[in-house]
Amino acid sequence: MTPNPVFVAIDTSDLEYARALAARLKPYIGGVKLGLEFFSAHGPDGVRAFAGIGLPIFLDLKFHDIPNTVAGAVRAATNLGVDILNVHAAGGPTMLKAAVEAARGVKADTKVIAVTVLTSLADADLEAVGQRGPAAEQVARLAGLARQCGLDGVVCSAHEIAMLRATLGPDFLLVVPGIRPKGADLGDQQRVMGPREALDAGASILVIGRPITAAPDPVQAARAIAESLGFS
Ligand code: C5P
Repeated sequence: MTPNPVFVAIDTSDLEYARALAARLKPYIGGVKLGLEFFSAHGPDGVRAFAGIGLPIFLDLKFHDIPNTVAGAVRAATNLGVDILNVHAAGGPTMLKAAVEAARGVKADTKVIAVTVLTSLADADLEAVGQRGPAAEQVARLAGLARQCGLDGVVCSAHEIAMLRATLGPDFLLVVPGIRPKGADLGDQQRVMGPREALDAGASILVIGRPITAAPDPVQAARAIAESLGFS
């Protein structure tokens, strides 16, 4: 059976709360995503504390620096035992290859994925930083580069899934935030998609935060999503 594709975004700096929540959600989720807020507050010890729960971890720190520095950061992150980590594709081919090589040197099955264009950037923002738009074309260009450089996948928005799946083949990981089950609050997400729709479009992993973490009963919310996807 394929593993549950739902990774819960734990966007809190409260370690004990986060750990306890993840432990309760464990039967209904496929993993957790720990990001910059969590890592800035708790660092490697916080990640190790999570590793003890036994859920796959996506460490979302979006490394972007010179190849040697990114390779060192990737090595250190892989040594923490995380299952997925990410870098910015805009760091360029040498940096991307260095990141993959560094991860493989520590643990062969840690997935290295790339961020293409942050979804907070509009076409005008790309122009302001000298990147060639429109954003959708830049996403396709950077995702193709990531694949050529040996990365395992990309983070992408729901409306990019179909285009990237068609061009990058069946095995490339598409990790998708901005997922909202029917009736859930949009929060600050603009263009969302339901979990079932996103999987049908070709998503590999669904990153879901507030629809679970801010629900009155997070366990019930996670269970309902799992059941809607056939994991129960
Ligand atoms: O609470 P919500 O489901 O919106 O959480 C989505 C998670 O995915 C957050 O951790 C957010 O930072 C992250 N993310 C996103 N959109 C992107 C990239 C990452 O929402 N384009």
